[in-house]
Order: sequence, then structure tokens, then C-alpha cells
Amino acid sequence: MKVNAHKEPKPIRLGVVGFGKVGTICAEALLESKDLVLAGIVRRLDSLAQALPDAFGKIPIVSHVAQVHHVDGALLCVPMAQVLDTAHDCLQHSIPIVESSVLHGDAFHAHRDAIHRLAIRYDVPAIVGAGWDPGALSVVRFLFALLAPEGDIETKHRVAGSLHHTAMARQVIGVKEALCTELLAANGTRQRYVYVELEKGVDADRVAQAIRADPLFLGEETLVFPVDSVTALEQEGRGVVLERRSAPGSSGHQRFLFEARFDDSLQTAHMMLAAARALPGLEPGAHSFLDLPLSALWGEQGHNVERAWL
Ligand SMILES: NC(=O)c1ccc[n+]([C@@H]2O[C@H](COP(=O)([O-])OP(=O)(O)OC[C@H]3O[C@@H](n4cnc5c(N)ncnc54)[C@H](OP(=O)(O)O)[C@@H]3O)[C@@H](O)[C@H]2O)c1
Repeated sequence: MKVNAHKEPKPIRLGVVGFGKVGTICAEALLESKDLVLAGIVRRLDSLAQALPDAFGKIPIVSHVAQVHHVDGALLCVPMAQVLDTAHDCLQHSIPIVESSVLHGDAFHAHRDAIHRLAIRYDVPAIVGAGWDPGALSVVRFLFALLAPEGDIETKHRVAGSLHHTAMARQVIGVKEALCTELLAANGTRQRYVYVELEKGVDADRVAQAIRADPLFLGEETLVFPVDSVTALEQEGRGVVLERRSAPGSSGHQRFLFEARFDDSLQTAHMMLAAARALPGLEPGAHSFLDLPLSALWGEQGHNVERAWL
């Protein structure tokens, strides 16, 4: 992608289709972005009457993507079952798309082919599988496979890292739900972290004292943190470990390890925005996240990134 040094780069105007978990994060991130613009939010007719946070006060909220003015691309944040129809709708209005359906293997290829046929018919680019997995994690797997071509890759999914539910804390009056984990402090002593979701109006200090006084928690430093939602915390705490080892007998012993804890909606939204930066340089047709030049994911900052990391 050639950059004209004398011209201010034109911001890329994007519509967000579907205001669920991923769509909300995409829209919030677009409000903060310097090179991408939130051109509009597309919602189902039934959802249009729902008020959005004040930050979106000036953003057009519409029921069809064709109503968003001067749009350079659409981020499809609708449920997977709706993605193909929504993609069709955008592409036939000559609007490039970015989507992130959670599909792998043959199912991913069939989906990509279906979008490719539409994108070719309407002469528009489309980016598929631009999320966390598929998406960012696919790039890591791809790199690991390059580093140890004959090796095996092992994937371990960890739900909430070492967080576990604690019946004791849940019995304390005013606690709706609780999760607990043990950590080693910097000085080597064991600490317990207890995350509690409280009933309305309950005194958090009283709950913390009651938990710390229980014989189960005596003798170890116990820190109690009130949280809005234990379910959300479990989601945020999702983790994965990828490990690839070179095949026995190949040159030397090579081992690559990737460990991550993440919120997959947040990471998916970040990858969708990054993919959207690559849209202006793409030919019509469907492109997977792996097809995109890595520096294009940074848009106009691509050349700085190359200088910093190559
Ligand atoms: N690759 C990855 O790792 C990854 C991870 C997470 C999610 N994803 C993908 O991201 C997309 C969005 O996921 P999400 O978790 O944000 O979903 P979500 O919270 O369920 O939100 C989807 C939104 O789509 C809109 N919608 C349109 N048609 C709908 C229908 N028939 N039923 C329900 N909602 C409908 C709704 O917004 P309005 O009310 O505003 O119309 C809804 O809030 C999905 O395609 C999912 O596969 C990918």
C-alpha cells in the first residue's frame, strides 16, 4: 500500500452491524480511534428504540446498512446464523465487510467460499475469520508451524485460569456468587483472592470480614473484591496455552509456548478493527485474516511498525 507523505490520510468510515457484545466494543473502540470513524450503527428494528449510552449521541442509528452515509466498510457483529445474509446485504450495496464467525476447518472454508462468490459477484472485498479464534490465534498457530514445521501443536483451553467457585463464600449473607483463586505474592506467601457478586445494597466490608473469619480462609491472607458479574469475570479469565515442539529426530529440540488470558469479545473487536484498516488495499473477493499483509493491519502506521519490529 503506497502512502502519500504530503496528504493527510483519509479516515476509514465504518458501520457496526449488531450492537451485542462484540458490536458494542467495536463501536466504543471506533469512537476512540484516530484513523477509523464510526459512521453508523445498524440495529434490528426491534432494538432501534433502545437508548444507547450518551457517547453515541451523535452517531446515526439505523435499521439498514444502506442508510449509513459514505461508508467504507461494515463490521458484521451479528450472530453467526445471520452473517451470510447480512454479508449479502452489504456486498450487494457495494459495502466491503469484515466478519469473524467462529468456524474452523471445512466449515470455515465453505463459509469463506460462499462469501467469496458474493464478493466477486458484487466486485467488493470481504475479510472473513477476523476475530480471536479464528483470527489472532490462527496467526500464532501459523507462526508456530513455520518455526517447527514437522512438529505437533497442543492446545489447552483453560476456563477462568485457576478461578473456582467457592461454596463457603456463597453462603455468606448478601453474596450472590463467588469465585476464588490462590496466588503467590512477590514475597512467596500464599494469598487468596475472592471475587464476590453482591446482592443490592449489601455492605462489602461486612462480607469481606465474614469471609476472612471463616476457618477455611484463616491462616492465609485473603483479599475480597466485589465485582459486577462473576459470569463476566469467568469469561474475561478464559485462557489458552498453545505449545509446539519439533518432531523427534529433527534438528535439535525446539519448543514454542504461547499463554494467554483474554476476553474473546474484546480481542475479536480489536482484530475486526485491525482488519478494516486493510480493506482499502484489497482486491474484490474473500480474504481470510491470514491472507492480510501484517503491516496493513496497522493502516497508515504500518511503516512505523515495520521500523520498530523488523
Ligand atoms: N472469532 C472469534 O473468536 C469470535 C469471538 C466472539 C464472537 N465472534 C463472532 O462475533 C459475532 C457477534 O458475537 P456477539 O458475541 O457480539 O453476539 P451477541 O452478543 O449475541 O450480539 C449479536 C447482536 O446481533 C444483532 N442481531 C441481529 N440479528 C439477530 C438475531 N436474529 N438474533 C439475535 N441478535 C441479532 C443484535 O444486535 P441489535 O439488537 O443491535 O440488532 C445482537 O445484540 C458472531 O458472529 C460471533 O460468531 C467471534
